[in-house]
Parts: sequence; structure tokens; C-alpha cells
Amino acid sequence: MITQDYFGLEDKVCVVTGGASGIGLAAATLLAEVGAKVIMVDIHQENGQKAAAELQRKDYRVEFLQCDVSNGNDCIAVRDHIETKYGTIDVLFNNAGVIRRKTVVDLEESDWDLVINVSLKGIYLLSKYLIPLMARGGGGSIINTGSGWGIKGGDQAAAYCAAKAGVVNLTKAMAIDHGPQNIRVNCICPGDTDTPLLRDEAKQLQVKEDEFLVSSAKGRPLERLGTPRDIAKGVLFLASDLSEWVTGTDLIVDGGGLA
Ligand SMILES: NC(=O)c1ccc[n+]([C@@H]2O[C@H](COP(=O)([O-])OP(=O)(O)OC[C@H]3O[C@@H](n4cnc5c(N)ncnc54)[C@H](O)[C@@H]3O)[C@@H](O)[C@H]2O)c1
Repeated sequence: MITQDYFGLEDKVCVVTGGASGIGLAAATLLAEVGAKVIMVDIHQENGQKAAAELQRKDYRVEFLQCDVSNGNDCIAVRDHIETKYGTIDVLFNNAGVIRRKTVVDLEESDWDLVINVSLKGIYLLSKYLIPLMARGGGGSIINTGSGWGIKGGDQAAAYCAAKAGVVNLTKAMAIDHGPQNIRVNCICPGDTDTPLLRDEAKQLQVKEDEFLVSSAKGRPLERLGTPRDIAKGVLFLASDLSEWVTGTDLIVDGGGLA
């Protein structure tokens, strides 16, 4: 019989970045459903507070913290809050990310900096400040959000592809460095998943949203887009004891798109 404790996440302290929306919100919800205490971190205060309040109404143990993951001082404030309130951290889901659908020629320097700073540097920063706390608590699991486009290239998304390829190999480097501290580090690589980020890509590319969503689902063996919950289930696996001998890997969750 499968019980909540099967995942080994009951009462565990889990931080989810980009937790106010899409994949982050779905992962925060699923982790809370299996008994974890979840700290939802996001730059978007209004969305974050609203999402946390909805989960609290269902009696899940969640809270929201505003933080720009590309800002070192914000990440230190998150660390200080967790250290004071919980004393430790067991799971870190480094998931916040942004995309700009442009070629290198069209990207402004500010676009490049934003995408790299949020999607790649943010993982370095929050991990830098939270790993010592996790190590002191005896270890844990870190999951970084990459993308199918961290493994193969994609059109008009040069900074995003660079950031996500960085995430895939940063994950392996972190896994090597922190394995001896009993910290597992893995990457989840979603394919096109129906979230505000995906829908915004249609706007950026100036194409109709419904046609863009249909074309994003096309060519996948499972013949549909991902849902945030599809990705959250992979995150749950990597966060939980079910993956206790898995580190340094990238888990592709994309309906077979890369196959
Ligand atoms: N949706 C997809 O098709 C898809 C595919 C592959 C990878 N991904 C990746 O999944 C992750 C989540 O994306 P999503 O699709 O759920 O998008 P989303 O836009 O629904 O959620 C992203 C969240 O990140 C937050 N955020 C943005 N900048 C931030 C910052 N500086 N600090 C803290 N939070 C910040 C946003 O406010 C938002 O709530 C991203 O890393 C994205 O690149 C998404």
C-alpha cells in the first residue's frame, strides 16, 4: 500500500522558486499534498500571496516569500528566514525562469542578462546560500529546472538555450561537489507545458496563441502538451526517497518530444 510517507517527504522543508505560477505552483501543491512544509518563493508578490492563501485554505503548510532569485541579498534573506523559522532545508526546487524568443542578433543586452541571471545565475545564488544549511541538516535533494532546449537547440531563443544548457551541466557539477554531503542534485527538463510562460511565447513571436499551442503539441509521441502537474510528478520523484540513488541526471518529461 502506498502511504504519504512512502515519499519520505512528510514534514520536510521544501523551497520552490517560481512558486507563484505554472510548474512551480504545481510542484509546491504536490509537495504540500504529500505532507511537506513548502516555502513558495517568487518575484511576483501578488500572485505568490494569492497562490499561498489558496493552498493554506486547504490546510496545506505553505508560505510565500518574495524574492528575486537573481539578487544575492534577496537570496540571503530567504536563507535567513528559513534558518530562523525551520533550522534546516531538505528540498530546493530551483525553478524560476524567463524566456525571450529572439536570435542573438535581435536580443538586447538587457534581454540576455535577464534570461541568464534569472534562469542560471539564480540557481547558483540560492544554492550558494542554502547548501550549507542543507548540509548541516544531513543532506537533501536539489532539483534544477532545465528544458528540452537545454539538451537540443531551439529557434529564436538563443539566451534561453544557453541558460538551460548551463543548467544541465551546472547540475552535474553540483552533484559531484555535494554528493559527499548527502546532497543529490538533479535537473528536470520539461517539454512544452501549458503555463503563462508558454502562452507568452506566442505573444513574443506574434503568432496566434491557439495555433502556437497546437503546433507545440505536434510531433510528440504522446500527442499533447504537458500540464504543470505532469512536470510536478517528476519533481516529486526527484525530491523523494524514491530517487535516493539518483544524482547528476537530467529527467526529460516531454511526452516523448526529444525522442
Ligand atoms: N512551460 C514550458 O513549456 C517550459 C518548458 C521547459 C522549461 N520550462 C521552465 O520551467 C520553469 C517554470 O516555468 P513556467 O512555465 O512554470 O512559467 P511561469 O511563467 O508560469 O512561472 C515562472 C515563475 O517564475 C517567476 N519568476 C520570474 N522571474 C523571477 C525571479 N527573478 N525571481 C523569482 N521568481 C521569478 C515568475 O513570477 C513566475 O511566477 C522555467 O524555468 C521555465 O524555463 C518551462
